[in-house]
Amino acid sequence: MNKRLVALLAVVGAMVLMLSSFLAARPNNAHDFSGRCESCHLTSPRKGQKNIFTMDIDTLCIECHEVAVKNSHPTGMVPSMKIPEYYFLDWQGKLNCATCHNPHADDSKMMLRSKTRGRQFCETCHAGGVLLGGHVAASGMAHTKNWTPPTQESFGQILDRVSLECLVCHEGSVGPSADVQIRSGSESQSLSYAGPGFSHPIGIDYGKAAARDRQLRPLDDLSPLISLYEGKVGCASCHNQFSHEGDMLVFSNRGSALCLECHIK
Ligand code: HEC
Ligand code: HEC
Ligand code: HEC
Ligand code: HEC
Ligand code: HEC
Ligand code: HEC
Ligand code: HEC
Repeated sequence: MNKRLVALLAVVGAMVLMLSSFLAARPNNAHDFSGRCESCHLTSPRKGQKNIFTMDIDTLCIECHEVAVKNSHPTGMVPSMKIPEYYFLDWQGKLNCATCHNPHADDSKMMLRSKTRGRQFCETCHAGGVLLGGHVAASGMAHTKNWTPPTQESFGQILDRVSLECLVCHEGSVGPSADVQIRSGSESQSLSYAGPGFSHPIGIDYGKAAARDRQLRPLDDLSPLISLYEGKVGCASCHNQFSHEGDMLVFSNRGSALCLECHIK
C-alpha cells in the first residue's frame, strides 16, 4: 500500500478514536454544585423534606440559564389544573423552573421530572392539551430554540416537525388558514407559506441559504428568538406560542424588524 495512504489512514483512525473517547468521556450535563449548596439552600437540604431557598427558584436558575427568560413556558403562577405529584411547586404553590426540571438529576435527559417527551410531556399537565387551549402543547417545546439539527426522521422531509404540527390546524379547517404550496427551486424543493398579507418560502435550510446569499444575516448572528428547527425556516422562525406580541410573532415586526433580522438590505 502507498505510504502516504497508510499515514492518512492512521491519522483518520486516530481522529476517530479521539472523537469517540471524547464523546464517551463527555460529562452527562449533570450539575456540579459541590461547594455551592448554600447559594441556593438556606437550610441544610434534606431528601423528602420541604426545602427553604435563598431566593425564588427562577432567579437562582436564570443566573446561569438566560435561555429561559424570553419566549419560554411561563412560570410564577399557581396552576389552574391539577398537576401530577412528581412535579415540584414552590412554597407558594407556584410553577417554577424546578417544577419541570430536577436540578439534581444525574441523567442527561434535560433533567425532566417526567419520562414523557414532546406533546405527551405537555399533556401531563395540559390534559387534552392541543384541543383545549388552541396553541397549548402545539409544538411540544418549552423554550425558544435557536437552531436544532436535522434528525433521522426529518431527513428528506421538506418541513420541520414543528411546522407540520402547526399545519394540522392551519391548513384551514380549524385555525386561520396558512396556504402552503410546493415551489420547485433550482437547488431544492421548498414550500411557500401564504399569509393574508404576504407569502414566504418555508422549509429552506437557512444556513445554506445564508451561505450563498449575502443579503441574509449569517446563521450565527441571528437573534436567539428566531428558531430554526432542523435548521430550516418554518412557522416557528416567525411565530412562538409563548409570545405575547400580536399574531404570536417572535418579536414585533414594527419597522419590519422581524423581516430585517434575516434580510439585511
Ligand atoms: C441552583 C440552586 C441549587 C443548588 C446550588 C443546590 N440545590 Fe439542592 N435543590 C435545589 C432545588 C430547586 C431543589 C428542588 C426542590 C425539591 O425537589 O424539593 C433542590 C432539592 C434538593 C434536595 C431534595 C431532593 C429530594 O428529592 O427531596 C436535596 C437533598 C438537595 N437539593 C441537596 C443539595 C446539595 C447537597 C447541594 C450542594 C452540593 C445542593 N442541593 C445545591 C436547588 C439547588
Ligand atoms: C413546563 C415545563 C418547563 C418549565 C416550567 C421550564 N422548562 Fe426548561 N425545559 C423543558 C423541556 C421540555 C425542555 C426540553 C427542550 C424543550 O422542549 O425546549 C427544557 C429544556 C431546558 C434547558 C436545556 C437547554 C435547551 O433549551 O436545550 C434548560 C437549560 C432549561 N430548560 C432551563 C429552564 C429554566 C432556567 C427554567 C425556568 C425559568 C425552565 N427551564 C422552565 C421544560 C420546562
Ligand atoms: C452555576 C450555574 C448553574 C446554575 C445556578 C444552574 N445551572 Fe443548569 N446547567 C449549568 C451548566 C453548566 C449545565 C451544563 C449544560 C451545558 O453544557 O450547557 C446546565 C444544564 C442544565 C440543563 C440541561 C441538562 C441537559 O440534559 O442538557 C437543565 C434543564 C438545567 N441546567 C436546569 C437548571 C435549573 C432548573 C436550575 C435552577 C434550579 C439550574 N439549571 C441552575 C449551570 C447552572
Ligand atoms: C407542570 C405542569 C405543566 C407542564 C408539564 C406544561 N405546562 Fe404549560 N402551563 C402550565 C400552567 C400551570 C400554565 C398557566 C395556565 C394555567 O394555570 O391554566 C401553563 C400555560 C401554558 C401556556 C399559555 C401561556 C401564556 O403565556 O398564556 C402555553 C402556550 C403552554 N402552557 C404550553 C405548554 C407546552 C408547549 C408544554 C410542553 C412543552 C407545557 N405547556 C407543559 C403547566 C404546565
Ligand atoms: C389545535 C389546533 C392548532 C394548532 C396545532 C396550531 N394552531 Fe394556531 N390557531 C388555532 C386557532 C383555532 C386559532 C384562532 C384562535 C383565535 O382566534 O383565538 C389560531 C390562531 C393562530 C394565529 C393568529 C394568532 C393571533 O394572535 O391572532 C397564529 C399566528 C397561529 N395560530 C400560529 C400557529 C403556529 C405557529 C402553530 C404551530 C406552533 C399553530 N398555530 C398551531 C389552532 C391551532
Ligand atoms: C417569515 C416569517 C413567517 C413565517 C415563516 C410564517 N409566518 Fe405566519 N405570519 C407572519 C407575519 C409577519 C404575520 C402577520 C400578518 C401578516 O402580515 O400577514 C403572520 C400571520 C399569521 C397568521 C394570522 C393570520 C390571520 O388571519 O390573522 C397565522 C394563522 C399564521 N401567520 C400562521 C403561520 C403558519 C402556520 C406558518 C407555517 C406554515 C407561518 N405562519 C409561517 C410571518 C410568518
Ligand atoms: C427566519 C429568517 C427570515 C425571516 C424572519 C424573514 N425571511 Fe424572507 N426569506 C428568508 C429566506 C431564507 C429566504 C429564501 C432566500 C433564498 O432562497 O436565497 C427568504 C425569501 C424571501 C423572499 C423571496 C420570496 C421568494 O419567493 O423567493 C421575500 C419577498 C421575503 N423573504 C420577504 C420577507 C418578509 C416581508 C419578511 C418579514 C415579514 C421576511 N421575509 C422575514 C428568511 C427570512
